[in-house]
Amino acid sequence: MTNQANAPNPTPGGATKSQTTLITGASGGIGYELAKLLARDRANLVLVARSGDKLVEIARELQGNFSCTVKTIALNLEDSHAPKFLFDQLQNEGLTVDILINNAGFGAFGVFAQMPEPEILGQIELNISALTHLTRLFLPAMVTRRRGRIMNLASTAAFQPGPMMAVYYATKAYVLSFSEALANELNGSGVTVTCLCPGPTNTNFAKRAGNDGTRLFKKIGGMNAEAVARDGYRGLMEGKTLVISGMQNWLVAESVRFAPRKMVTAISRWISEKVE
Ligand SMILES: NC(=O)c1ccc[n+]([C@@H]2O[C@H](COP(=O)([O-])OP(=O)(O)OC[C@H]3O[C@@H](n4cnc5c(N)ncnc54)[C@H](OP(=O)(O)O)[C@@H]3O)[C@@H](O)[C@H]2O)c1
Repeated sequence: MTNQANAPNPTPGGATKSQTTLITGASGGIGYELAKLLARDRANLVLVARSGDKLVEIARELQGNFSCTVKTIALNLEDSHAPKFLFDQLQNEGLTVDILINNAGFGAFGVFAQMPEPEILGQIELNISALTHLTRLFLPAMVTRRRGRIMNLASTAAFQPGPMMAVYYATKAYVLSFSEALANELNGSGVTVTCLCPGPTNTNFAKRAGNDGTRLFKKIGGMNAEAVARDGYRGLMEGKTLVISGMQNWLVAESVRFAPRKMVTAISRWISEKVE
């Protein structure tokens, strides 16, 4: 643990003390690493996830180490009323959100026909609906202020179909398409939209998804969450529309554009199979 006196220097062009950043899914993984980067730059934070106790612990750590204020809100964003509840709560407290990071998301491994319905609908609710609803709620005030940043977490899964995780891959294709279209609509508005696409990353994601035993995670392996967050944060602050974290991931995402779709889907399936 560092204390404030020997905390690293803020990121050039990073968030400022007067800005508030809302991060969903900040109780672990990439969201937590993003929260640390923003806290280091003294941004004030609103952290959201279901695990309120973990968020409180993180708030204590960040406020102890950096000169920032951290508000935590325990919320299940799979609940369709949650985005509006969150927006209203922050409005009532007079909090302006300058940066919105839609990071919360999950995947589920298995053939679609046998996947429990709540797992299917939960992915759509969290990865698509909550992200879209939160963006719609917080964006208009950013446009009025002519200032704001949004970052949506997609994945390299967004670039091709994903047999064995069909719904997850499709949700991330939505996030990528939505983010790129929105970035275009907002061109010149003072508001930027960044879509961060990590490849496999070592967080709780794979264990939760049940794909930790696949070729993707066992043979190819994951990046570390801190490096992914750093790439995303830099891209967010530069107003980049698309950030693919890691050279290998970038090459894979770019190369699938030129290969026959059926072949890409077959390779995607092979990578997603479980191995010893
Ligand atoms: N790790 C990877 O390989 C990878 C690759 C590409 C993209 N991504 C994307 O990156 C994002 C972050 O994932 P991660 O790897 O950091 O995974 P993670 O370690 O599992 O973290 C997910 C975060 O989302 C929160 N969350 C999950 N369900 C939620 C719900 N219903 N309501 C509110 N918060 C919820 C979790 O907190 P609680 O459990 O406390 O709610 C946690 O803070 C996701 O969108 C994921 O799809 C991950």
